[in-house]
Amino acid sequence: MAGPACRGQAMTPETPFEFPPRLSLAQLPTPFQPLPRLQRHLGCRQRLWIKRDDLTGSVLSGNKVRKLEFTLAEALLAGADTIVTCGGVQSNHCRATALLCARLGLHCVLVLRGEAEPPFDGNLLLSQLAGAELRLWPVRTYQHNLDALLAETIEDCRAQGRQPFLIPTGASDAIGVWGYIGAVQELQADFAREAITRAHLLCATGSGGTQAGLTAGAALLGLPATVWGVAVCDDEQWFLDKVRSDLQAWQERYQVPLELGRLPVQVLDAYIGPGYARAGREVFETIQLLASLEGMVLDPVYTGKAFLGLLTELRSGRFDDVDDIVFVHTGGVFGLFPQRDQVVAS
Ligand SMILES: Cc1ncc(COP(=O)(O)O)c(C=O)c1O
Repeated sequence: MAGPACRGQAMTPETPFEFPPRLSLAQLPTPFQPLPRLQRHLGCRQRLWIKRDDLTGSVLSGNKVRKLEFTLAEALLAGADTIVTCGGVQSNHCRATALLCARLGLHCVLVLRGEAEPPFDGNLLLSQLAGAELRLWPVRTYQHNLDALLAETIEDCRAQGRQPFLIPTGASDAIGVWGYIGAVQELQADFAREAITRAHLLCATGSGGTQAGLTAGAALLGLPATVWGVAVCDDEQWFLDKVRSDLQAWQERYQVPLELGRLPVQVLDAYIGPGYARAGREVFETIQLLASLEGMVLDPVYTGKAFLGLLTELRSGRFDDVDDIVFVHTGGVFGLFPQRDQVVAS
């Protein structure tokens, strides 16, 4: 296989399943750090922790690199020379894919949801710098015809003599699940080192793949944590269905012994605010709070909303049954810059 070495991982008594082929693209393990000043500021009894997946590398890439290690390995094994994927005009996933494609010598085509002449800022700027071919579609056209737009793009690539490989929104599908099962292995070591015996663990959930991997991984590996996805766009039912259908596809494909029917999938959907990529004042205040107290930067599209969820639920007493709360920081800092006006206003 071309590209960085492919790491494999055999079955052991501790991991009763085999990971599929994987490229070595991320800087792992990511740091696991306490938030002592925030804890003092809140006056809370529980210890607060942050898993720094904003530091997975490839330009501060966040959660996507973990999934793409598996997805791009599969693409290369399939003989692809072109990756086609999709998302919002400021998609972190599209930016991460564009940069990794450049690193692997693959052509990248991004089908993007946005207006005709968006400002070249944030993630879009980086995708363009990485040499991705950008195909922008108006929001309504994209929303109603995404499958047809992707099929047309694939056909165009073939007509140009390319071998395209399609990655769905957020790389959240059967193979993408593996990314966050790998993260749970790291969290096991983090928990052991910090003597965490029972925790609530929260992440932003947008296309469901990170939550699916964490939920399945925690059950498979016995991580003593309740996993919560904090929704940034759709409601609880949408995420329950999406996580379950990705996990079903994953289980059918890889035959992993896990009773999906009994798996607790937990969603908090009260922090979406005005809608996807649109945040209220409280989210910008949360970003400001964490940056000024701990020197860690969240974004208004994903992690700012999820962290606001963590703070609000903590105050309401939902996490009173544990001594430790873990936030998985999934990256996304480039989404902050196109919304700079609101940061200043908050
Ligand atoms: C920064 C960031 N955090 C969280 C998410 C949500 O992850 P997922 O799509 O796996 O639900 C995304 C992508 O959607 C993201 O870009």
